[in-house]
Amino acid sequence: MTSQIIPVDPFDFIIFGGTGDLSERKLLPALYYRQRDHQFSEPTRIIGTSRAKLSNEEFQAFARQAVTDHVNASDVDPKELESFVARLSYVSTDATSGVGFDELKKAIGESDRIRAFYLAVAPTLFGNISHHLREHGLITPKSRIVVEKPIGRDLASARALNDLVGSDFGEHQIFRIDHYLGKETVQNLMALRFANMLYEPLWNSAHIDHVQITVAETVGLEDRVTYYDKAGALRDMVQNHILQLLCLVAMEAPSSMNADAVRDEKLKVLRALKRINGNDAPRQTVRGQYRAGASAGGPVKGYVEELGRESGTETFVAIKAEIANWRWAGVPFYLRTGKRMASRVSEIVIEFKRIPHSIFDESAGNISANQLVIRLQPDEGVKQFLMVKDPGPGGMRLRQIPLDMSFAQSFRHRAPDAYERLIMDVVRGNQTLFMRRDEVEAAWNWIDPILNAWEQNRQEVQGYTAGTWGPSASIALIERDGRTWHESN
Ligand code: BG6
Repeated sequence: MTSQIIPVDPFDFIIFGGTGDLSERKLLPALYYRQRDHQFSEPTRIIGTSRAKLSNEEFQAFARQAVTDHVNASDVDPKELESFVARLSYVSTDATSGVGFDELKKAIGESDRIRAFYLAVAPTLFGNISHHLREHGLITPKSRIVVEKPIGRDLASARALNDLVGSDFGEHQIFRIDHYLGKETVQNLMALRFANMLYEPLWNSAHIDHVQITVAETVGLEDRVTYYDKAGALRDMVQNHILQLLCLVAMEAPSSMNADAVRDEKLKVLRALKRINGNDAPRQTVRGQYRAGASAGGPVKGYVEELGRESGTETFVAIKAEIANWRWAGVPFYLRTGKRMASRVSEIVIEFKRIPHSIFDESAGNISANQLVIRLQPDEGVKQFLMVKDPGPGGMRLRQIPLDMSFAQSFRHRAPDAYERLIMDVVRGNQTLFMRRDEVEAAWNWIDPILNAWEQNRQEVQGYTAGTWGPSASIALIERDGRTWHESN
């Protein structure tokens, strides 16, 4: 089964940080795929820019290599690759001084084509770049700017950053990427909830016991020492990706997929999150940091050894969150994320309430609560766990089995990377899967008190062995409530 690909209007795509890591690993490969799938109309152009002094040919060679290294070999079509590379050019710019923006203007030329400025650079440069774009007359009504997280490190700095970019671009032109929203299965969450009649009537505190959201990674610090040690798991993963997932699970049905309709509903969820203050934090949050252990079959260093110095930064966090509204009062949302965990898995578990009364006698065995498990990665799919009768004679024995909807089996085409979808949405001007300013700030408004509580209480990180499911305190966090983490294997 293949989906129909609709070409988009011609556009100019300008990548700041064009020779950086994000451009190499994600943006250029994603753009290549869109070329290969014939989504570009002529004369679409891609312009790389950064401080490095490169010729067009050198940037083209960089892009060719990026595609070769980061796209499945079987998907690299030499003819398409050359057509892709032919769209690329390069201009050197200095985001701080503004040197090179005149050249960039010349390279873009006068046109009323769609213009997307993608800022794959450190957030400290966002304001500089957007001001230079304005001062050089590069912002047209059809221009858009794309910014990546981290958008701030607390509410005040997020506001300052939003003010800076917002003084040059209108909110309808600002695309704040959270790449989790571009993941196929995350969008499927909306399909599951709002394209089916089955779940929505049960989607509330009368029928749902609790929700679990796990985003576990096996990687460690990687090459991100400076950024990560200042951020930690709460800022790096919870403020954005995990809260976005929580919003999609918890929001009311928007009236349409219109960007503001969806974002209004997500915002209401963020605003309804109960604040976790200094008294609650020791009971409702766990901070962890990995120690030496094993990952992917080999020994790995602990965080502190990788870093080369002592650090109190958390590489794991677990939180019991609560949403104070009619739909969700009394339904805890258990959130956890960490580096160097037992396996790479992101999933959402909706655990329904137990049946009110069993008609079966003890020989039937335990009747488990129904669970809906939405697996975001890897092995994307949805499993609905149900109780059934064990087949065969010998009385009524009950067993839990999954109704298994594996997407790989049902849809045999490649799942596009999140960036492919999101880049094309930028070009189309569709902001549904991007975070609005008030959403980002509302998320920080919930995160800040947790950060403050940790600081006030001097809540230390608890060690966990690399290759495990996190500190034992995170198990206690949920078991104290008589519940257990879903075994994510
Ligand atoms: C990024 C975080 O936003 O998401 C990283 O900064 C994390 O620390 C990454 O590794 C996870 O993304 P994915 O798509 O691999 O689940």
